[in-house]
Amino acid sequence: MEKSILIIGACGQIGTELTFALRTMHGNESVIASDIREGNESLMDSGPFEILDATDYDALEEVVAYYEITEVYLMAAMLSATAEKFPMRAWNLNMNSLFNVLNLAKEKKIDKIFWPSSIAVFGPNTPKENTSQSTIMEPSTVYGISKQSGERWCDYYHNKYGVDVRSIRYPGLISWKTMPGGGTTDYAVEIYHKALSEKAYTCFLKEDTELPMMFMDDAIKATLQLMETDTENVKVRSSYNLSAMNFTPSQMAESIQKHIPDFKISYEPDFRQAIANSWPASIDDREARQDWNWQAEFDLEKTTKEMLGNLAP
Ligand SMILES: NC(=O)c1ccc[n+]([C@@H]2O[C@H](COP(=O)([O-])OP(=O)(O)OC[C@H]3O[C@@H](n4cnc5c(N)ncnc54)[C@H](O)[C@@H]3O)[C@@H](O)[C@H]2O)c1
Repeated sequence: MEKSILIIGACGQIGTELTFALRTMHGNESVIASDIREGNESLMDSGPFEILDATDYDALEEVVAYYEITEVYLMAAMLSATAEKFPMRAWNLNMNSLFNVLNLAKEKKIDKIFWPSSIAVFGPNTPKENTSQSTIMEPSTVYGISKQSGERWCDYYHNKYGVDVRSIRYPGLISWKTMPGGGTTDYAVEIYHKALSEKAYTCFLKEDTELPMMFMDDAIKATLQLMETDTENVKVRSSYNLSAMNFTPSQMAESIQKHIPDFKISYEPDFRQAIANSWPASIDDREARQDWNWQAEFDLEKTTKEMLGNLAP
């Protein structure tokens, strides 16, 4: 049977690039983009689009029936920094949207789900270096609590109802096509924009805050690879650790200075410092490597070259 794919939250940082990648693979008409708002012009012009609220089960069911959807990528969520400001709204969006999609699969209305988790599932008591797949978690943010609960529910729906749900704990994602949507790692995108426009950036994290990060092309590659692999290879049904590079704001500034020597960085940590402090500095992703041959391609130097090259006027 032909695949028919629905992306929910398609206008965001990841959804936009995921939509383009899936349309290249499966054809524009087989990939339905949806969001609660319209996206950028190139996304809107590239194929079918529906305004859809991920928390509205009936509306979701209707779109799934109309387009005979077989796979759903659920990218709608409230991210870490914004969720600290609106805890209940974040919980409602992040959990209800996931239940809606899991229940569609339980009812056999769709065959397969991708739902992203995050390194935010880890917390201040988690070992910080080379954090393993299964370890102490105890997330201390609303966002992290919603992602950890989501992981448990994905695992439960797989074991109990046979739902084919697949997931990755994305690190902070760096991309140039769309701006990030209110996360704690957003500095790693903003810095390139400011480096080009003002040759200066004031970072909201301290200079030595090391966090796991990934260039968007690697994140999209991993997502598609996990979704394409045979079901018996998917041994983790909560969410896979995934790693590409780890760096601090000052290391990032140094990599930019190789291209823009007079670039200056200063530091004014805000509430996001506490969130960053609760997360790992590096991630052990051996399960993803073993189970579905994951291998990252972009390190910091390659990412900087790609970001500055694409954002330069
Ligand atoms: N970007 C990252 O660095 C990162 C890291 C780890 C995990 N993630 C996860 O990946 C997913 C996508 O993240 P992103 O960075 O693209 O987020 P984003 O904020 O850029 O995009 C989210 C999209 O969801 C849409 N949305 C919000 N409420 C909605 C609703 N009720 N119904 C339908 N759409 C709605 C928004 O309009 C937005 O376009 C999220 O689950 C996020 O937690 C992202």
